[in-house]
Amino acid sequence: MKNNSPPTENTENNDTAKKLEPLPRLLVPWYEQNKRDLPWRRTRDPYRIFVSEIMLQQTRVNAAIGYYERFLSLFPTVHALARANDDLLLKAWEGLGYYSRARNLKRAARIVADEYDGVFPASPSVLRLLPGVGDYTAGAVASIAFGLPVAAVDGNVLRIVARVLDYNAPVTPPFKRTITDALTRIYPVERCGSFTQSFMDLGSAICLPSRPACLLCPLRAVCAAYAHGTAESLPVRAPKAAKKQQKLTVFVLRNDDTVGVQKRSDTGLLASLWELPNRSGHLSDGDAVRVAETMGVRICGEFSMRRARHVFTHIEWDMLVFDAQTERVDDSLVWVNPNANEQAALPTAFRKCL
Ligand code: ADE
Repeated sequence: MKNNSPPTENTENNDTAKKLEPLPRLLVPWYEQNKRDLPWRRTRDPYRIFVSEIMLQQTRVNAAIGYYERFLSLFPTVHALARANDDLLLKAWEGLGYYSRARNLKRAARIVADEYDGVFPASPSVLRLLPGVGDYTAGAVASIAFGLPVAAVDGNVLRIVARVLDYNAPVTPPFKRTITDALTRIYPVERCGSFTQSFMDLGSAICLPSRPACLLCPLRAVCAAYAHGTAESLPVRAPKAAKKQQKLTVFVLRNDDTVGVQKRSDTGLLASLWELPNRSGHLSDGDAVRVAETMGVRICGEFSMRRARHVFTHIEWDMLVFDAQTERVDDSLVWVNPNANEQAALPTAFRKCL
């Protein structure tokens, strides 16, 4: 009997899955012959794979490698991380940014150590309950560490799939759901981790955002965008919301080789990290001197004012940096040498002011 009903989400997902069906057959052998030799690919230990996936959430592969190796030599097991000293933990993370990842990593390690006897859960829905774990990380860990057929869909995967389908509408959350569902249906029965990671390597070496190297691509024969010459203009981006701008006056109060720092509040942006003292808004020279002198210092001689900028995910800091030699009057601030390695972790936004 002919079906005249309008297409439902389910039939649309079936069609998409059908178009994506050749991908495992083409991508898995390509990946296994061409994969990058990365430290987290030399282990089957779910803890190590978990750490790598958290680090790689907002950090590029090349930048993450050194941090990954140092982090695991400091915290070689989930139990060691669960008991980690917080200052050492944040120091090991210093420079990677997005410090809530480090705090969540330790909280997740505690849960695994205390509630799962140190054994990582394999199920993506249970992994998803750990702090700092979203659908992507749960899918990556479930497929790479446990060999389960679970997709990990990020911008890379969406770009590759949008091109294979020659999908020329903006990439939106419903498109992502359709793709996640379609990929879930076509995962291979084995080598699931290779399939997941094949998207990462294809996206970083061949199916690049601009100038994709289509002639080298294992998906060329099934890629509709290649056939239509549209690969370079896809995916179509949804318009971005403007970043919020925040003006700040930051105080670099120097005393010999040290600068005065303080702990940030334990909630919000850069929670509990060390910071250079600061006030919101751009203060005039006179106001900056007056405010500095409420921080337990006396200004000696000249001071300078300059600008610095730091961009976070949703917000941008436009910083006016007040820089002066000072004498210490009381212990309002903690004094650290910003160039000494063992000192407190100072987020990049503040390092830019020094
Ligand atoms: N990005 C996120 N996870 C990754 C992995 N396992 N390999 C390479 N790049 C990644």
